[in-house]
Amino acid sequence: MKTKIINTPDMLKAASRRKEATVFVPASFDKKDELQAIIKDEKYYIHTYGCQANVRDEETMRGMLEDVGFTQTDKPEDASVIIINTCAVRENAEDKVYGEIGNLKILRKKNKKLILAICGCMVEQPEILKRLMDTFKEVNLYFGTHEIPELYSLIYQAKTSEQIVVAIESKPGEVVEIKPARRSNEYKAFVNVIYGCDKFCTYCIVPYTRGKERSRHYNDVLKECEELVKQGYQEITLLGQNVNAYGKDLDEGKDFADLLEAVAKLGIPRLRFTTSHPWDFSSKMIDIIAKYPNIMKFIHLPVQSGNDRVLKAMGRRYTREQYLALVKEMREKIPGLSLSTDIIVGFPNETDEEFKDTLSLVDIVKYEAAFTFIYSPRKGTPAAKIADNVSKETKSARFMELVKHLEKHIEEHSASLVGKTFDVLVDGVSKNDKDMYSGYTEENKLVHFKGCEQMIGKIVKVKIIESHTYSMIGEIVNG
Ligand code: SAH
Ligand code: SF4
Ligand code: F3S
Repeated sequence: MKTKIINTPDMLKAASRRKEATVFVPASFDKKDELQAIIKDEKYYIHTYGCQANVRDEETMRGMLEDVGFTQTDKPEDASVIIINTCAVRENAEDKVYGEIGNLKILRKKNKKLILAICGCMVEQPEILKRLMDTFKEVNLYFGTHEIPELYSLIYQAKTSEQIVVAIESKPGEVVEIKPARRSNEYKAFVNVIYGCDKFCTYCIVPYTRGKERSRHYNDVLKECEELVKQGYQEITLLGQNVNAYGKDLDEGKDFADLLEAVAKLGIPRLRFTTSHPWDFSSKMIDIIAKYPNIMKFIHLPVQSGNDRVLKAMGRRYTREQYLALVKEMREKIPGLSLSTDIIVGFPNETDEEFKDTLSLVDIVKYEAAFTFIYSPRKGTPAAKIADNVSKETKSARFMELVKHLEKHIEEHSASLVGKTFDVLVDGVSKNDKDMYSGYTEENKLVHFKGCEQMIGKIVKVKIIESHTYSMIGEIVNG
């Protein structure tokens, strides 16, 4: 099979930064009618790995595919288009993708007309793209995170040519105002406010896969949120790799605190935001969060390490003391605040003493939730070039010890909630117990309780009767 290369990724170009980003509304695809005519009762299957940015991208892709006549299926064998939306943040995320393509390639061997597409963050790296192309000759479409607006044209090209289509241009990126989107939930919505990342933490691949930090216009974000409120949505989560850097790249005189306040005033019952970088967190933001009851008192504030040398080597731009001072201000000004974090253990040459600083920070902050990771070298990032003297065994032992510390605090906090009543937004039937329903409190605690179908998408009062580390059992108050 021939390969049609439209463009391929380049890490240097991906890291380049210009000041301005252009907002653009993609031109309509001129052969859309022709594409619609070709698609008759065809189905698509899509599987997304990684963070909310990818989940939101999936919604855009679903909207575009359904716009030209595809319907969704959860069975890859019934689909004529299969899309694997990948994540490259750690090696284990990538390994899952290699495994899945290994299983799916058989379908393409059986059905030569099938489009097997790989997109997302993995293909943004030249070496990974090469490995994928060398290993899986069955994949016939590759496109990057910046090519989603071209999806109509890419599907058309893959369908009408006998070629493998590769379209991955490394660029700082534009702000693409694109419709339609097929949201995955009818009462909880994600809204992008800022794309990309300019922080370049030395271990992280994201700035290379997602391009420069670029904010959507203030009014465009508000318009989307207003629409969601009108449609009856109960919860909006404002999204960005560094959501609180919002507005820094615009000349609109608005920052993230202004945006939070404006969205809160629209009257959405629950407003959340993720992910916040400690460096960009202002006192003004803390005051706004404290002021509006519909801004959830839950902040995800990745710390990564509790040691100053490691923080510096990671390029995190804050010290342990600065982080702790920020937490202190948050806890003082926002009663009932829940904090969660991300922590990496085993950064190159991390000593036992340095790791202990992370443990002691965890013991001071007493997070209510946390994500923990063993450092995974990412080719092309500065940290991956550092010779590392920490063994795998040491890293695993540190990981276990860290989890023990975190869980002790989480368990204590969970136990303190027993007997109290919380507002819970009901998601649906519990994943593990068909007789139970589940949902999240304002502080983002998962609660299981006996409920009924009519409660789905509503906020109900639940009294906690039993606590586990990562979830609670409760009962509905007042019938
Ligand atoms: N923009 C967000 C999320 C980035 S990815 C933020 O800055 O917080 C989510 C988490 O993955 C990071 O917070 C970090 O803890 C972890 N991570 C990123 N790169 C990693 C790597 N190379 N190895 C291990 N963990 C990593
Ligand atoms: Fe990665 Fe750091 Fe940007 Fe987060 S802030 S996405 S960890 S480079
Ligand atoms: Fe993964 Fe890309 Fe998100 S690397 S964490 S899907 S930005």
